Amino acid sequence: MPAMTKTAEPILEVTGLVKHYPLTQGILFKKQVGAVRAVDGVDFALGAGETLGIVGESGCGKSTVAKMLVNLEKPTAGTIKYKGEDITKMSGRALKAVRRNIQMVFQDPYTSLNPRMTVGDIIGEPYEIHPEVAPKGDRRQKVQDLLDVVGLNPEYINRYPHQFSGGQRQRIGIARGLALRPEIIVADEPVSALDVSVQAQVINLLDRLQSEFDLSYVFIAHDLSIVRHISDRVGVMYLGRIVEIGRDAEIYDHPTHPYTQALLSAVPVPDPEAREHRERIILTGDVPSPANPPSGCRFRTRCWKAQERCELEVPLLAVPAEFRLTTDPTAHDSACHFAEEKHVVPTDDLDDGVK
Ligand SMILES: Nc1ncnc2c1ncn2[C@@H]1O[C@H](COP(=O)(O)OP(=O)(O)OP(=O)(O)O)[C@@H](O)[C@H]1O
Ligand SMILES: [Mg+2]
Repeated sequence: MPAMTKTAEPILEVTGLVKHYPLTQGILFKKQVGAVRAVDGVDFALGAGETLGIVGESGCGKSTVAKMLVNLEKPTAGTIKYKGEDITKMSGRALKAVRRNIQMVFQDPYTSLNPRMTVGDIIGEPYEIHPEVAPKGDRRQKVQDLLDVVGLNPEYINRYPHQFSGGQRQRIGIARGLALRPEIIVADEPVSALDVSVQAQVINLLDRLQSEFDLSYVFIAHDLSIVRHISDRVGVMYLGRIVEIGRDAEIYDHPTHPYTQALLSAVPVPDPEAREHRERIILTGDVPSPANPPSGCRFRTRCWKAQERCELEVPLLAVPAEFRLTTDPTAHDSACHFAEEKHVVPTDDLDDGVK
């Protein structure tokens, strides 16, 4: 197996990211009785110009990760490095400058756009916080250019969100995300609320914008089929953790974690012959509560491979976070004691001239 080398300096490096929400009891005297472990130790790196897909079922912590990346939530622990600097420790002007470069596109274009604002005001709103990007006199033109870039008629600038379809509203949300010319866009299920027929159009738009504006994407979805065409690498989340991460072809063609195998088996396959040969894995039981996750492997309560070891020992991703950004097409990591043919590099190799 080729030695894993660090190819490019990642634009974003996330290590040990944790978000616990306190669970309280009592009305007058609130007492903390526990915590919702929404995100519980997530590591990944994002390369410049790369798209990292993050998938997982509802409640596994995807949006919480997204919110921490754009500073809408403060992590309980962990670091988020943007070009080598930890943004969780920044404040004031430095933080403002970084926030400009990391923008979010939200899931629901129906609730994320203020219905009382015109499209022009919605898209131009980020300029109120960052007037240096567009002086007042230039803003109308900039907003019209953005409408054009996302495939909407610039003359619609004075219309209101209700005058647009779902797909068009998401284009407005994307235009707003682009207003400050960010380097990174965190797209939290940007097409989940849209009709299937419109989803592909919005994904194609994001794809085109990526090359036009040199963007790096964190693209969140609950379904593996949605991120397939746009992602370079995919991370699969379960109950607050990444359980498998790798190049997208590796994840789709050789999933090694039982959870990924189950998720993939639920993805519709158009080819009837392939469909026939495929093993359908039906997961039993519900996702446990993140307030009380199972010991050891969090997936063990629904896993057909689970043994005693899974209850006692937490399976970890084998490759340290700083090496997960690699162009090696076999680079692939899975947090399972019984993962099938794990494509990981022995940790001894990692010390050889790569750091
Ligand atoms: N502000 C909050 N206070 C308490 N718990 C929260 C808060 N926000 C999220 N959670 C909990 O944290 C867990 C992860 O939530 P999150 O929204 O990140 O999941 P998700 O993967 O984005 O799910 P979905 O696919 O439904 O969007 C859930 O159990 C959720 O109920
Ligand atoms: Mg979410």
